[in-house]
Amino acid sequence: MKITFVKKIKEDGEECKKCREVTERLKAGNELTLIDKIVYADMRDADSVGLKLAKEHNIDIAPFFIVESEGNVTVYKTYMELKKKILKKALEKADIEIEERRKANAGIDSGDLTQSKTKTKPAFDIEQLNEEFERKMPQELLEWGLKEFHPCIAFAWSGAEDVAILDMLVKINPKARIFTLDTGRLNPETYDLIDRVRERYGIDIEVMFPDAAEVEEMVREHGVNLFYQSVENRQLCCNLRKVQPLKRMLSSLDAWITGLRRGQAVTRTVLKKIEIDESFGGIIKLNPLADWSHKDVWDYIHKNNVPYNELHDKGYPSIGCAPCTRFVKPDEDIRAGRWWWESPEGKECGLHVKSK
Ligand code: ADX
Ligand code: SF4
Repeated sequence: MKITFVKKIKEDGEECKKCREVTERLKAGNELTLIDKIVYADMRDADSVGLKLAKEHNIDIAPFFIVESEGNVTVYKTYMELKKKILKKALEKADIEIEERRKANAGIDSGDLTQSKTKTKPAFDIEQLNEEFERKMPQELLEWGLKEFHPCIAFAWSGAEDVAILDMLVKINPKARIFTLDTGRLNPETYDLIDRVRERYGIDIEVMFPDAAEVEEMVREHGVNLFYQSVENRQLCCNLRKVQPLKRMLSSLDAWITGLRRGQAVTRTVLKKIEIDESFGGIIKLNPLADWSHKDVWDYIHKNNVPYNELHDKGYPSIGCAPCTRFVKPDEDIRAGRWWWESPEGKECGLHVKSK
């Protein structure tokens, strides 16, 4: 069976609101991995694949779904219809397949789903891939990642210098998925950049929020600025505001992309370009800039005229949440301004833990 999801791009270049809502529902239901292909009915381009499909099937609304199974083609005009007739059964089947695969892989850690969550994909020889990609350009690794996993791969964009990756990705595939974790405590300059990037590239940034009830409870119990009180409280805040929303996003993906670099911190010196992320169900993690220096990143940003966070010009080489990031002096380490009251060995927020 093959499911094609047809979305609409409006005349102004924005994706239609309904299409975005349906994507969110698919994500929330862990169903996005069941979609084989996403194509666009681009109102600015009569030759776009989606518009041709709409014409072929006599459909005048988007989003819609085309399901091909055993030679039959069926069109579903609503998400609910697709869910009832197709997705529900497909998810049950996928769960059974995963369970069977787990059993067949007896001896391998049951949490180690290095293969796709819902589809059969070859297991990757990570060591060999790392050897191959160590000498290659970041764009080559991104191309590989998109070819293997799109739409079940997404870039975690922090709103800082990793905007270089965003630029590379959009140039490779404008439909590449990009998300950001809005902790609710970001700097105004970061929010400003998110919108500038959306406008400049005409892309959708998937913004993930923390669970409101959990944050309310945390703040009631520990105060608004709890992170200054203890490492434990800081980690609690990072966990609720960053790690849990990330977990939610990654649960529907087979791979994610980050802007991590070896030179960023003592905790990142052994970073590989391709890793298995054990802390998020064993999905693949790509770090295309692992071997780039701070200068490499900035050379790219300037050369390609990439929009960047204004805080960088105000003495912030590394940017996180507003209350947990300060400017650094010229002779200080680039991450000296992150959680500056803590020791460098522990300065991780839980997004990037122990990969192999
Ligand atoms: S952190 O763990 O200390 O906060 P850092 O700011 O160095 O991470 O960023 C490293 C990478 O983590 C970024 O390039 C990005 O891929 C991911 N990341 C960090 N913060 C966010 C965020 N708010 N939203 C999405 N991705 C993020
Ligand atoms: Fe909370 Fe600071 Fe972590 Fe942001 S960086 S989630 S404000 S502790």
